[in-house]
Amino acid sequence: MSKLIIVSNRLPVTVAKQEEAFEYHKSLGGLATGLKSYHKKADSIWIGWPGIASNELKEEEKAGIEKKLESDHGCLPVFLSAEEKEKYYDGFCNNTLWPLFHYFTNKMEFKSDTWEAYKHVNEKFFRVLDEVMEENDQVWVHDYQLMLLPGMIRDKYPQAKIGFFLHIPFPSNEIFRLLIWRDEILEGVLGSDLIGFHTYDYVRHFLSSTRRLMGLSSHLNTVHYGNRNIRVDAFPMGIDYEKFYREYTDSEFIEDTKLVQDSKKDMKLILSVDRLDYTKGIPNRLEAFDAFLELYPEYVEKVKFILIVAPSRETVRSYEKLKRQVEELVGKINGKYSTSNWMPVWFYYKPFTQKTLIALYRNADVLLVTPLRDGMNLVAKEYAASRRDLEGMIVISETAGAASELGEAIHVNPRDNVAIARGLYKALEMPLEEKHTINKIFHQRLKRYSLDFWAKEFISSLQSHEKTPIIKEGVLNIGEDSDQLMKEYHQAEKRLILLDYDGTLVGFTSIPQRARPDQSLKDLLTTMGENPQNTLAIVSGRDRQTLEKWLGDLPLHLVASHGLWVKNYNEDWKSTVMLTHDWKPVVYEVMQMYSDRMPGSIIEEKDYSIALHYRKCDPDMVAEKMGEIKEALLTLVHAMSLGVLEGNKVLEVKDVRVNKGLAVAHLMRENSYDFILAAGDDVTDEDLFDALPSHAFSIKVGFGSTRAAYYVDDWRAIRSLLQKLKGS
Ligand code: UDP
Ligand code: G6P
Repeated sequence: MSKLIIVSNRLPVTVAKQEEAFEYHKSLGGLATGLKSYHKKADSIWIGWPGIASNELKEEEKAGIEKKLESDHGCLPVFLSAEEKEKYYDGFCNNTLWPLFHYFTNKMEFKSDTWEAYKHVNEKFFRVLDEVMEENDQVWVHDYQLMLLPGMIRDKYPQAKIGFFLHIPFPSNEIFRLLIWRDEILEGVLGSDLIGFHTYDYVRHFLSSTRRLMGLSSHLNTVHYGNRNIRVDAFPMGIDYEKFYREYTDSEFIEDTKLVQDSKKDMKLILSVDRLDYTKGIPNRLEAFDAFLELYPEYVEKVKFILIVAPSRETVRSYEKLKRQVEELVGKINGKYSTSNWMPVWFYYKPFTQKTLIALYRNADVLLVTPLRDGMNLVAKEYAASRRDLEGMIVISETAGAASELGEAIHVNPRDNVAIARGLYKALEMPLEEKHTINKIFHQRLKRYSLDFWAKEFISSLQSHEKTPIIKEGVLNIGEDSDQLMKEYHQAEKRLILLDYDGTLVGFTSIPQRARPDQSLKDLLTTMGENPQNTLAIVSGRDRQTLEKWLGDLPLHLVASHGLWVKNYNEDWKSTVMLTHDWKPVVYEVMQMYSDRMPGSIIEEKDYSIALHYRKCDPDMVAEKMGEIKEALLTLVHAMSLGVLEGNKVLEVKDVRVNKGLAVAHLMRENSYDFILAAGDDVTDEDLFDALPSHAFSIKVGFGSTRAAYYVDDWRAIRSLLQKLKGS
């Protein structure tokens, strides 16, 4: 039976050494606190870092921790040395990815040694996973610390169901592209079948990065990558609603509640709860509270602001400074406003249990949540769910993921102190009836979209996910019929092999002239072409000069300009059609007009066509303009023997009499073949496939609709197929 394996950097329990004994604490942060209850119910295995440096541990201590984590918590530890922790966790995770993804570009650093450590630790996680993993298992990888892991799992387990969830924002492409290792990070994440984010904004940003940086197309939130479909969607993380809504009658809870109520007296209570993090906007919030007391002096001695800050990432440099800054601000405000029997800000720099937090949530009149950026912010949801009396109110920044689900709360710009002060005032003054209405809506939503719902929805989407693109319906992967192909190849006496060049034998390059054949390709084509039973032809859209320069000395036939020119081995070029050129200036002028307005586009004039290449253009701009350009060109050429053809990032006006099918006709006229194989990736290769007799093997390289009988994933697969035929 398949199992669920959760993998995250931080385990739900953190191990610490106190003198000679080990303590097991509940971990902080939304990922660990949230996912914990699901993990228990799902009976999953949770792999992660226990938070203690492994070089401080003896082997038997490690074994003891391992045993306890497994038996009591269903967890499997990945031990990291102090150096790994420093470079991977403090370094790449929290000094590069964390600030970048939260738009703090001034705090991020790019260091190749921390990047190396990130790769190394991701591999380490993979090795631990690999020990317990079986082919049919589902793996759910979490967060920015492990973005390379899905790719590593995919390489070894091509059939596994892999989900990835990012708990922090995914930044806009303009920010993400600053990352030196952006391609590796995207490729790593794309090892998944399902990629989840908290909000649609993050989905949009991710898709825009895969489109702009990797040229991947997506349709209805599905990215086509290699031979797989990857679903990318928003799954806003919920909370364990019952835990926060439930009535607690134990003495500890009653005691906590009493303490809060006594300290509150006849004052209004403002609460905020965060890990110490510069993304949480704590200094801005304190300044806003100062502004509030300035603007609304009637609240002096009438409010108490409880500021709970849980220590976090204390070894990361940017966090150390922040603590001092917060302490100074608290001192400044308290110094400015305190009276003999009143102190406005009560600052607690320590973690609280969630049970104590619930007691606080239930008695705080306003929750002030003003992160500068936050993937979700579960505290806001926990507060809303805890308010059984429906009398609380939330002031939340618009840059917190939770803001979109708490649309009825008071939204503020977290950098605008006056707006926060006004929001706070509005929340404190809000009529009871309005609070009831708003809180009821919160409860309905949080109860339905709970943590359980979130996790189950993600996992069931993962289970039902179809990896293989449906556009391939009826077209077989050649791998499934390769025995038949090999058999026919061997039995044949005369074989014709027709191969497109770009995208079929070599990958695409940003500058077409760089796609010259490498030595191994030349060797492969030479051996295939030298076989007296084979007639090998390269059927390309490229011009005669390029083909001749690159491949002219090999024992092959060359077909240039999509069939217009044919050159049999050791012979001269012959044209297959008599061309006219009078249409070219008019078409060129129209294309030029559009090209001027499309930065990155190039116009290429060929013997029988004029092509507008837009591979390097902004894909959104292309999507906007393409309809208009096509229509203008179609109107222009409709009465001539010309056609408008859309290829792979190219729009071409061409003499329709010229097509790759001509090459087939020409070569077949010269001989009769009992085995024919043709392969191509582009729309122009469809003419080639159309012209083939029914017994031929036609292979489409890549995706998209095709008239070929078979497909392969990419040009590498064609090379392997040729290698196989050559070696057999
Ligand atoms: N939390 C806690 N004790 C504290 C502070 C926070 O248990 O003293 C919990 C809190 O209840 C919430 C989580 O830590 O479940 C914080 O998650 P959130 O999404 O708000 O922020 P993150 O820390 O993940 O950035
Ligand atoms: C955020 C991140 C989590 C992380 C948590 C606590 O919620 O998304 O991945 O676990 O902060 O941070 P820490 O560095 O202590 O694990």
